[in-house]
Amino acid sequence: MDRRDFLKGMAAAGAAVCVPAGVAGVLASTCTGPRKAAPASGAWDFDELIDRSGTWSIKYGRATNGEIPMWIADMDFRTDPFVREALQKRLERDVLGYTSTPEAFYEAVAAWEAAIHDFPVEREWVGYAPGVITGINQAYLCFTQPGDKIIIQPPVYDHFRLYIKRLGRVAVDNPLILEDGRYRMDLEGLERLIDERTKALVLCNPHNPVGICWDRETLAALAEICERRGVIVISDEIHGDLSLWGRSHCPFCHASDAAKRVGILIAGPTKAFNLAGLTGTAFCIIPDAQKRERYLGALSAAKLSEPAIPTIEAVLAAYREDTAWLNALKEYIQGNIERVEQIFAEHRVSIVPMRPQASFLVWLDCRALGLPQEELMNFFRERAKVIPSNGAGYGAGGEGFIRLNVGCPRATLNEALKRILAALEGLHS
Ligand SMILES: Cc1ncc(COP(=O)(O)O)c(C=O)c1O
Repeated sequence: MDRRDFLKGMAAAGAAVCVPAGVAGVLASTCTGPRKAAPASGAWDFDELIDRSGTWSIKYGRATNGEIPMWIADMDFRTDPFVREALQKRLERDVLGYTSTPEAFYEAVAAWEAAIHDFPVEREWVGYAPGVITGINQAYLCFTQPGDKIIIQPPVYDHFRLYIKRLGRVAVDNPLILEDGRYRMDLEGLERLIDERTKALVLCNPHNPVGICWDRETLAALAEICERRGVIVISDEIHGDLSLWGRSHCPFCHASDAAKRVGILIAGPTKAFNLAGLTGTAFCIIPDAQKRERYLGALSAAKLSEPAIPTIEAVLAAYREDTAWLNALKEYIQGNIERVEQIFAEHRVSIVPMRPQASFLVWLDCRALGLPQEELMNFFRERAKVIPSNGAGYGAGGEGFIRLNVGCPRATLNEALKRILAALEGLHS
């Protein structure tokens, strides 16, 4: 579907939910229809240095000594202008009462998936989710029992593991395989690992931290194994809208019919549109009716299905807009990643950046430095005055690696690279 068809579809969806005057006033913000045009490109100055002090930023809270924080995954760019405008408008309304998820939300998600990922999503498959990790945690509760096993594929986003343990379930590792500088999923290992207590697998697609957009064949093979062995797949696709260099993102539930039967896809616009602090801005796509009813029923019983007003406004604004801002952002991120590659190659440093196929997180192979993990982290923090994420925190296979968040203005990145180069010189002299 091209962008014009997408916008036309959205116009139709917008029209369908509008109601006559009176009630229309109450629903006004959900009936504003599609965004047709992007703002002037001056509004997207990704080079601008934004002061985040005094905003309780978690990222900057750790930088107490003049370090450049490049760890937790939010970006230092202005949040998408359409989203900010929609929030401002809505917060001018007098009453911020209990809110339901409007029909327009489901339609916007379905239309976005179809237009951006070529994934024809039926409106009924879509539900509101109270955040990606909260949504995943609720899936653990809903589909597994204490003592059950849940498979994760490290090195992987650390939050997958935390609640598994807390809930008395067992996290089982099926580590990725790193071969000739490329990661792949260990499907043979997976077959061997699954037993009668294994009830779920958490997929990270695209994979954080190694940056892979899993291809359709791999996803279909995974779905086939999981269906045959009675395992559901919870697919975290929060980085899916940020695929780079023309690479496409294949949503898990779009990979095969089996994937539709076993998949619970959870995603949201928070990474791509830089809204991470709007906790609860997420959705789920569950094609299988029984799983969907069970999951959405559990969310409702836990009072997790009533969205905060800003989350709905944000999803509508982000997914109804033209992709011009997002495309410009992705180009800028690509430029940043190329900059890291270029500087490390030019200076022949013994750190190897692994180019991500999606998102603004670069997995750096630092094993050739020969530093134990704690010293490696000290090297970055104390000597280079840059704070990356600790590779070891992502589990098996993370030792010797760090994850660098390059979602920042080029000047910030250049300064960080300068500091890393200087610190490396000190290390070798
Ligand atoms: C793979 C992945 N999933 C989930 C999250 C967090 O999502 P949420 O804030 O919606 O829980 C992150 C944040 O970095 C992430 O990288």
